[in-house]
Amino acid sequence: MPQISSLKKIIITVDGWSSCGKSTMARQLAKKLNYIFIDSGAMYRAITLYFLRNNINVYELHQVQQALKQIHLSFQLNPLNGNNEILLNGENVEPYIREMEVAEKVSEVAAIKEVREFAVHQQQSIGRDKGIVMDGRDIGTAVFPNAELKIFMTADNEVRVMRRHKELLVKNPSIQIDDVRSNLSQRDHMDSNREVSPLRKADDAVVLDNSNLTPDEQLSLALEWAHEKINA
Ligand code: DC
Repeated sequence: MPQISSLKKIIITVDGWSSCGKSTMARQLAKKLNYIFIDSGAMYRAITLYFLRNNINVYELHQVQQALKQIHLSFQLNPLNGNNEILLNGENVEPYIREMEVAEKVSEVAAIKEVREFAVHQQQSIGRDKGIVMDGRDIGTAVFPNAELKIFMTADNEVRVMRRHKELLVKNPSIQIDDVRSNLSQRDHMDSNREVSPLRKADDAVVLDNSNLTPDEQLSLALEWAHEKINA
């Protein structure tokens, strides 16, 4: 059995619709391979949080440009759960970026060309040494178009709505399923229709539809694909 460190390191991209379990799968895959996991959506969410906190008008380009100059994003490993958590100017903002207020604004912020350039530049430099699994919407198409393995994840609409609702109920017991459904469909629409790097399946991506798969089943599939590429 070759040592993990002697194996070829690759880049794995995981793109797809909102709430189809991309981050969960990508995180588990990275752990199995001893790779870094980066949730690129957390970067757009942290930028959105900064804009909300500082009343940045997303229609005023100058305000957006000035704001981006004030933003420093980094990731820090949480030893308690093994996750890479996002820091916004040194503050761990994980607890705030998943809230509905951010979810309602993030697709609008993520559609701004200057915001994307800012985030993509950082994502590319994090992936320079390979050995990384990154999830998002444009990772296989715009961030790492030469990635060795590209996975495009999808699941039935209602399955995604129910999963997201269950997740949000933990924090907010009064959250309504209709609000979750409309937020998801709005985000899917904006993410796949924006001008800059819209969500789409890369031509060379493999599709993983997990509507009827358990987390273990989908992980086994992805691991199999990863090993094929690593050993190629
Ligand atoms: O994966 P997520 O739901 O946390 O992502 C939040 C939003 O960020 C999503 O609605 C679209 C945007 N996003 C993006 O445009 N490009 C990425 N690579 C990742 C996320």
